[in-house]
Amino acid sequence: MSQPLDVLGGITAEQFLCEYWQKKPLLVRKALPEIANILVPDDVMELALDENVTARLIKQKDKDPNQWTVKNSPLIKGDFQKMPKLWTLLVQAVDHYSFDLAELWKKFPFIPQWRRDDIMVSYAPQGGSVGKHFDFYDVFLVQGYGNRRWQLGQMCDAESEFVEGQPLKLLPEIDVHFDEVLAPGDLLYVPPGLSHYGVAENDCLTFSFGFRMPNVPDMMDRVCDKFSENEALKNPLHDIIRDQVSRAGEVTENELSYLKSEIFKQLQNSLVLDDAIMSLMSESKYPENIPEAEEIGTGDLEDALDQGYLLQLQPASRLLYSDQDQQVLFWANGEGLCISEQFTPFLQKIADGQTIALNLDLADEDILEDVVMLLNESILMLVPTEE
Ligand code: SIN
Ligand code: CO
Repeated sequence: MSQPLDVLGGITAEQFLCEYWQKKPLLVRKALPEIANILVPDDVMELALDENVTARLIKQKDKDPNQWTVKNSPLIKGDFQKMPKLWTLLVQAVDHYSFDLAELWKKFPFIPQWRRDDIMVSYAPQGGSVGKHFDFYDVFLVQGYGNRRWQLGQMCDAESEFVEGQPLKLLPEIDVHFDEVLAPGDLLYVPPGLSHYGVAENDCLTFSFGFRMPNVPDMMDRVCDKFSENEALKNPLHDIIRDQVSRAGEVTENELSYLKSEIFKQLQNSLVLDDAIMSLMSESKYPENIPEAEEIGTGDLEDALDQGYLLQLQPASRLLYSDQDQQVLFWANGEGLCISEQFTPFLQKIADGQTIALNLDLADEDILEDVVMLLNESILMLVPTEE
C-alpha cells in the first residue's frame, strides 16, 4: 500500500501513519468529493427524529451564547420549535443508515476495522458550533454540504480545565495556529487531544469519521465477565499451607501473594483474555441499529446466489477475526462465532471489507449453513450485483 492516496492529498498511507496519525493534523482539499450531497440537511433532520437513532440537539442561548443546553435523543418535533439563532444537531452512526456513506470507510483502508467507531454528522446553521473542545479519539472531519471554518489550537489532556457549569466539556480558550474554511469534499484529520473549534459559515453538514480504542477498565470488566461464566472458578480457593500462626488481624504478605498468584495464574489463560478483548472490540455501540433479519433457509440462499446476489457485512454489525497459530477465530457483535473451516477464507474477506460472490457449485452444505446463520443474525447481508 505504498502508492500516493488522493484521500491523503497525495502522500502514502505509510507516510500518513508515520508523520500524522495520533500526532498532528492534516488538511486535504477535495479528499472525498463523493461525500458531497450524499445527505442534505433535511435528511439529517428526518433521521434525528427516528426513535432508534442516537442524536443530540445543542443550543446556545440568544441572550448569552456562552450558555449551552443539550437535549439527548429520542428527539421529537417539539424539540425543534422556538429554536435560538445558534444550534447544532449531532446524529451518530449515520453510516448504519446510509450505505453510500458506509462505503466511504473504504477510503481509509490503512486503519483496521476494529479501530472504526462510527460516522457522526453535524448539522448547523450559520454561526452554529459545538464549542471549543478536544476529543480523546482520532477523527477525520469531512465537509459534506456547505462550509465550516475550523480553528485548531493547543494539545490538551485529562488535566485540561473546562468551562464550569455547562453540559458540554468546553475549553475556555484555544491558541489558534490553524484557521481554514472547508468546502464539500475537504478533509481535516484531527489527532486525539488537539483542541478544535468548527463554526458553520452557512447551513452545513460535517461528517466525523471517528475511531475507537478500548480502555483498560473496560477490558478488565470483560475479562471478569468471562471468568465469572466459569462455574468451577466460583468455588472458594483452598487455604494456603498453614505452618505458622500469625496475628489475628493481619493478612500476611505470604497470604496476599498466594491470592494474587491465583489471579495471575488465570490471567495466563490467553484464550479467555482473547475472547474478552475480541468480544468487547466487536461489540456494536448502537445495537438498536442492527436490523431484524428476514428469516431465510438454505433454499432461499441458493435462489439468491443463483440470481447473482453478493455477500457483504451488514453496516451496523461488527465482524472481526484473530489469526493465531494458523487458527482463525471470528467475533461479531460481541460474541464468538463458530464457523466451518471451508467458509473461513470467505468470511475473512468479508471482515476485511470486501463484497464477495459465492459460487454455488463450490459452496457445500457447511458453507450454506454458516451463511444462513450469519444472514439470520444480521451480521451479513445480501446485495444485488451492480449493473
Ligand atoms: C462538528 O461537526 O461540529 C463537531 C465534530 C467534532 O468537533 O468532533
Ligand atoms: Co470534536
